[in-house]
Amino acid sequence: MTDTPLRLVVLIGSHREGRFAPTVARWLLAELEQHADFDVEVIDAAQAGLNAEGPSPTASLPVLEAVGALAARMEAADAFVVVTPEYNHSYPASLKSLIDWHRTQWQAKPIGFVSYGGMSGGLRAVEHLRQIFAELHAVTVRDTVSFHQAWERFDEQGEVRDTEGPALAAKAMLDQLAWWGTTLRTARAERPYVAQSTGV
Ligand SMILES: Cc1cc2nc3c(=O)[nH]c(=O)nc-3n(C[C@H](O)[C@H](O)[C@H](O)COP(=O)(O)O)c2cc1C
Repeated sequence: MTDTPLRLVVLIGSHREGRFAPTVARWLLAELEQHADFDVEVIDAAQAGLNAEGPSPTASLPVLEAVGALAARMEAADAFVVVTPEYNHSYPASLKSLIDWHRTQWQAKPIGFVSYGGMSGGLRAVEHLRQIFAELHAVTVRDTVSFHQAWERFDEQGEVRDTEGPALAAKAMLDQLAWWGTTLRTARAERPYVAQSTGV
């Protein structure tokens, strides 16, 4: 456990109407209540006000205002958990938009994943995201939580059917996130992260 709680942002990546994301996110937030390492804040792609096309020189003012408001909240974060479904063997465009609108906010910070989907449980989405976050100088933690055939894993009230397996997986992921979060928070405070690259 850390002395000062880490500021954890839970990013909810899908934004389509009727999405399953709130069920998975609710479960994660309940798990996080048992983890004293984190102060938790939620950023939801469905409410973020960003367009799915990503940064554009012709972006409208409301989008820019939305970016500004989000940027400060993400800058303050020490760690992130990305809640993502799998769309067509990858992750949703709404999540890519949230990622691409930010740069320094990710640097030298750890990212954990809770994924869900059909057969793959969103694992292919997570593996794609690892490549994106490496480009952004973030560190993705090894263990993830994945809900395969997600709609069968929760009952009609949205309660998880297996209360042990996913909780164990969440604990492993969150323990790793807390270790990296604490370590990198200290490191960032001691010396600025060197993010310059030799090329794109
Ligand atoms: C456009 C689209 C593509 C999908 N592609 C996949 C896929 O490639 N693999 C998979 O396991 N599930 C796939 N699914 C199932 C979703 O992962 C599942 O419906 C999930 O609940 C979607 O997240 P959401 O409800 O939060 O939008 C797809 C669903 C949609 C809407």
